[in-house]
Amino acid sequence: MNALFPAGFRWGSATAAYQIEGAAAEDGRTPSIWDTFSRTPGKVRNGDTGDIAADHYHRVREDVALMKSVGLTDYRFSLAWPRVQPTGRGPAGQKGLDFYRCLADELLEAGIRPVATLYHWDLPQELEDAGGWPERATAERFAEYAGLAAEALGDRIGTWTTLNEPWCAAFLGYGSGVHAPGRADDQAALRAAHHLNLAHGLAVRALRDALPTTVEVSLTLNLHVARPLTDTPQDVDAARRIDAVGNRIFLDPVFHGRLPADLVADTAHLTDWSFVRDGDLTAISAPIDSLGVNYYSPALVAAGRSESPSAWPGAADHVRFLPAPGPRTAMDWPVDASGLHELLLRLRDELPGVPLLITENGAAYDDYADPEGAVHDPERVAYLDAHLAAVRRAIDDGADVRGYFLWSLLDNFEWAYGYGKRFGIVHVDFASQRRTPKDSAHWYAEVIARGGLPR
Ligand code: FCB
Repeated sequence: MNALFPAGFRWGSATAAYQIEGAAAEDGRTPSIWDTFSRTPGKVRNGDTGDIAADHYHRVREDVALMKSVGLTDYRFSLAWPRVQPTGRGPAGQKGLDFYRCLADELLEAGIRPVATLYHWDLPQELEDAGGWPERATAERFAEYAGLAAEALGDRIGTWTTLNEPWCAAFLGYGSGVHAPGRADDQAALRAAHHLNLAHGLAVRALRDALPTTVEVSLTLNLHVARPLTDTPQDVDAARRIDAVGNRIFLDPVFHGRLPADLVADTAHLTDWSFVRDGDLTAISAPIDSLGVNYYSPALVAAGRSESPSAWPGAADHVRFLPAPGPRTAMDWPVDASGLHELLLRLRDELPGVPLLITENGAAYDDYADPEGAVHDPERVAYLDAHLAAVRRAIDDGADVRGYFLWSLLDNFEWAYGYGKRFGIVHVDFASQRRTPKDSAHWYAEVIARGGLPR
């Protein structure tokens, strides 16, 4: 295998606003659904909230300097909708925009390309109060917000991602309820998925209207690699159902302007899909310039039943999830880089001509700073090495992968797990906010400097 990556490969890292920024009530930011959810007893471990997080809002210079020391060529972050457009309607929040202007300027000055995601799950609470993603109006609000952000920041930001992982927003937020806003309603989750697709399509149009044609417009999906336990028709059908409501519910509308027929059949007892209006699928399938892929681990499935309430409408009554083999991360997620290779080859075959970016990949481990102040994380290094090798193999096999964004730069607020799960290549001591690059940060810096893996 060639261990070097193609010239021009984008070496990045990723974060998200609510997970690192803190400053939750500063400079006109209004509450998002994650502020509300994290304050609801029992929803987030240890009662953790994003009020302070990694205090990135006040430490932009220091954090960009860390990125520069690692040698990142690109940095993926998200804009907090409740900062950029407090309450989700009307005029932009100038101080919120100033923060992102300053971040983008610091990045550009450091020679790092800013990659902005418009929605990484922090819906303004006022829009949830008006019905949230199950309501069509939320998609229309999102397109307005996209237009505002593009007008204000388009001179500094060359890559725009509309949504991060709409599957999680729809099915963990409204299906299983383990994420904000914490509703458990299969039908609402399916409506949310459609309106997130619509939000994406309308935002693509708003971005194109506001920005020069050279700007890259993208979407990030967490695509599921669901492997059947056996090749019996029942187990194969279980994997098909997960693929329908986990992957093709987004891929088919976005890239082919259609709903998957099997998904409509699987969910017929829940909805007639009449919330999909004429013209929606055309809007959703507006061409984009690349697809962002987030990958952590594969799943093993078999015929059976899942617990209720579940994140898998139309599949849960027919599918059970089994522990996949292999070592585990601190999230209890199996480590298996072959799933990433498999996924990239599938996208090579199904979406020819669509450049791919790995917009998230990484692992949580129970890291700590030793008495000398070093953080040794050999398991994370092994995880990253194996997954980058899988990407490199996929490129050799013809997948058009243009970049890799490691999740995550900093230890941060890991949603329902709070601060207990550390994904960063930079350790954060949340009491002092001291940053300490872990061994993996030094390792990644060497990979970037070399342009590939140490082979
Ligand atoms: C993804 C999220 C990201 C982070 C990682 C571990 O689903 O997009 O914010 O929490 O998982």
